Amino acid sequence: MKGLGQRRPAVVAIRRAGSAVARAQASWIAGIDPWRGLGYRAAALGRWLAGMAGQGSVWTAAPSGAAPSAIVVATDGFLLGGFIALLAVKPDASGHGLGGALVAHVEARTFAKRRWLFVSCDANNAGALRFYRRLGFRRVGRMPDLVAAGRTELLLRKGAGSTMGAAR
Ligand SMILES: CC(C)(COP(=O)(O)OP(=O)(O)OC[C@H]1O[C@@H](n2cnc3c(N)ncnc32)[C@H](O)[C@@H]1OP(=O)(O)O)[C@@H](O)C(=O)NCCC(=O)NCCS
Repeated sequence: MKGLGQRRPAVVAIRRAGSAVARAQASWIAGIDPWRGLGYRAAALGRWLAGMAGQGSVWTAAPSGAAPSAIVVATDGFLLGGFIALLAVKPDASGHGLGGALVAHVEARTFAKRRWLFVSCDANNAGALRFYRRLGFRRVGRMPDLVAAGRTELLLRKGAGSTMGAAR
């Protein structure tokens, strides 16, 4: 089976985003699912991204020399671990390893001092669930109606030292 790393572009620059760069990503994020389907507004999302960037919690990934094509927001101190609050890759850049590179970046930072990395994902988001599972995340909880009535979020967790792509 092909590993996620083999899809990675030759050079991916991962940078901590300042507030302006983080806010500027909101328009394309609001245009893709799950945020589009949940009715997120770009302006509100942009304010949140800018605030998270002000706390040093936002990173972007870009192929060498290009504008950001992917973004992750990760916080610390959630259930003895870190938490990926948002991960998005522009549709035309999907499948080239940017999402995997951002998760690996967050893992390295988190596992330097924490035991767990968490993320939650819409139960109907089959692509993202497959992505996280292949990276070694496992389902540890189910949260009905968390984001919107009738929608279920699954809580996923990866432990420090767990092997990518282990037992499926
Ligand atoms: C899920 C997501 C972050 C993956 O990022 P990516 O850069 O495309 O992923 P990578 O290239 O590192 O890894 C590819 C794997 O991701 C998964 N994947 C999920 N959605 C995908 C998509 N639209 N295109 C390609 N791969 C996708 C697949 O498992 C794929 O492996 P496979 O082709 O062997 O099945 C990205 O597709 C995305 O932003 N999706 C929309 C937003 C979203 O669902 N975010 C997660 C919310 S919890």
